[in-house]
Amino acid sequence: MSNQQLIPLSLPNMAGNEWKYVKDCLDTGWISSVGSYVNQFEQMVADFAGAKYGVAAVNGTAALHISLLLSGVKTGDYVIVSNLTFVASANSIKYVGAEPLLIDADPAYWQMDLDLLEEFLSEQTELKGQELFYKKDGRRIGAIMPVHILGNMCDMDRFLSIVAKYPLPVVEDATEALGTTYKGKHAGTFSPLACFSFNGNKIISTGGGGVIVTDDEALAKHAKHITTTAKASPDEYYHDEVGYNYRLVNILAAVGVAQMELLPSFLERKQEVVSFYKDELNGVADIRFQQELPEVKANGWLFTIQTEKQGQLLNHLNANKILSRRFWMPMNKLPMYKDCPYITKKDAADYIYNTCLSIPSSTNITDEQLEIVVREIKQALS
Ligand SMILES: Cc1ncc(COP(=O)(O)O)c(C=O)c1O
Repeated sequence: MSNQQLIPLSLPNMAGNEWKYVKDCLDTGWISSVGSYVNQFEQMVADFAGAKYGVAAVNGTAALHISLLLSGVKTGDYVIVSNLTFVASANSIKYVGAEPLLIDADPAYWQMDLDLLEEFLSEQTELKGQELFYKKDGRRIGAIMPVHILGNMCDMDRFLSIVAKYPLPVVEDATEALGTTYKGKHAGTFSPLACFSFNGNKIISTGGGGVIVTDDEALAKHAKHITTTAKASPDEYYHDEVGYNYRLVNILAAVGVAQMELLPSFLERKQEVVSFYKDELNGVADIRFQQELPEVKANGWLFTIQTEKQGQLLNHLNANKILSRRFWMPMNKLPMYKDCPYITKKDAADYIYNTCLSIPSSTNITDEQLEIVVREIKQALS
């Protein structure tokens, strides 16, 4: 074990006005579920993404849950999602009583495989009136959730043109993609409702938090209502539907406002980190990178490399206090999702899972730490 300091994977970076704004909450007593920072944070995220409205939530998972609910997904439906995602995407589908219908990942971009999606929709589904059904078991397909894995995106024009042929609401899981664009248009603005996350490892963090973005005023109002217990009267505890206590508290929103002020500089640093790793690791052993379409400008959230020597590299890096981690285990390997329909030919998700490794990508990683990471990767694979 080396005596160097631990190099974390993706740390929050509280480098701005976080203390000042949190102190303001504490000094004024506005610590809880209402307060000016909540509104400000919601608007800052929406403005940054180029959406009209933002609705804060306690985390990205809650934001996804509410977005599926407001998209009309019903108990017993399927929701199409990539097999290669963080479990929260699939869990949010379960929360509305639906079941994930898993599509394999694309081996180059690691997003949902659009060839498989297109083939599946044209061959294995049928329209009845204005609704879409899975031929095999007759269950309705209520929505589709593209997940912008690692802050990258698929060919969104193609995705939208495939999906447009079907009555299939889209809910973008843009939780990892704040700052990513496709043809200059921001992730999270390709569907009526989309979600960002601000958990501890995201590009900006509120410790825990999420925001739903939308251009639709009625959806924004409904999302705000239902995430704040659906209280319909200012004077009375009159609630007009089953609501959720999914509010983001003012203290955390205050952190979020300070983090949003830093976001442009974080995006710049992520690009430097990505460029450094790509320059230094290109051609080293069998290392490959996640591919990116020319139309996509990814936010570089968590740099991930691919190698057949995943286990050897992981052991070496962790033994040298360089925190790295495998991809999420694909959904079809988890006990609660193993029986979900899985549309695949070569199980690329499994291959990606077994060959990919995320490496330190914090915005506050130093140049010296980057050099150490590269040095140890080269040593492990030599
Ligand atoms: C792809 C994906 N979906 C959903 C989530 C859920 O976000 P949160 O952790 O804020 O609930 C995350 C982040 O953890 C994620 O990476």
